[in-house]
Amino acid sequence: MTTTTSTPSDWQQWQTSWDRQQEWYMPDREERFRVMTDAVEAVAGRTPLVLDLACGTASISDRVLRALPGARTVCVDIDPALLTIARGHFAGDERVTFAEADLTDPDWTARLPHASFDAVVTATALHWLDTEPLRRLYGTLAGLLREGGVFLNADHMEDESAPRLNAAMNALLTARQEGQRREGALDWSDWWTLVADDPALAEPAARRFALLGDPREPRPAGARPGRPTTTRWHLDALREQGFTEARQVWCSASDALVAALR
Ligand SMILES: C[S@@+](CC[C@H](N)C(=O)[O-])C[C@H]1O[C@@H](n2cnc3c(N)ncnc32)[C@H](O)[C@@H]1O
Repeated sequence: MTTTTSTPSDWQQWQTSWDRQQEWYMPDREERFRVMTDAVEAVAGRTPLVLDLACGTASISDRVLRALPGARTVCVDIDPALLTIARGHFAGDERVTFAEADLTDPDWTARLPHASFDAVVTATALHWLDTEPLRRLYGTLAGLLREGGVFLNADHMEDESAPRLNAAMNALLTARQEGQRREGALDWSDWWTLVADDPALAEPAARRFALLGDPREPRPAGARPGRPTTTRWHLDALREQGFTEARQVWCSASDALVAALR
């Protein structure tokens, strides 16, 4: 891990600014985290061992630990800059450990400090994976969960049976987002520009840009062609990969939270 001279309050500020940036895209982000945390408690109790997959700055671990102070979380991500913020945010908290890993690497689980978890949680991340690596990852997660454990994935996925309803609700969200941009809301590219300009984050940000691309460059909107876009795909793939039950437990017009039992 890179050492920095920033104070703990800097990390809290970065954590908050990450949350605001993500909420600009997903105004209902906290709602999905609440349902996710409730599902963890319902299935795994108040002292679960949780894997926070593609954790970013570890916002989900933060919400889980606030709701369930006896929980422990392992946070895994490929991005050195977001992990630097997460490590700073949780410095001194022995309930949280970190692993830097690429989820498409066949040996990524070797980097984890535990072989089995009560719950695996993830949000707004797995749409970064192509279809077959994602399907394989679901099989790997079924193997990492103890019997009766729960997997929760909140991500961009839609109910394709209602395209006009989805389009109308998405148009309202877009109009609201445009208004918030005029009032100064940061998007992905703006946020990474600020990160790269912070001397405490410039080095891990440069490594992130080399690994995953530079988010300050314009990128095409929408899902990459060929990647799964429907809730149905995720539920079918989870059952096929060894989960005994899988269902949607929350949704908006463009996103859903799916839960699956091992
Ligand atoms: C939009 S962020 C979401 C982070 C966090 N779950 C949240 O909701 O705030 C997506 C995350 O997925 C991570 N990610 C994408 N591809 C990955 C991969 N192949 N291996 C590990 N992490 C990956 C990114 O680095 C990023 O932190």
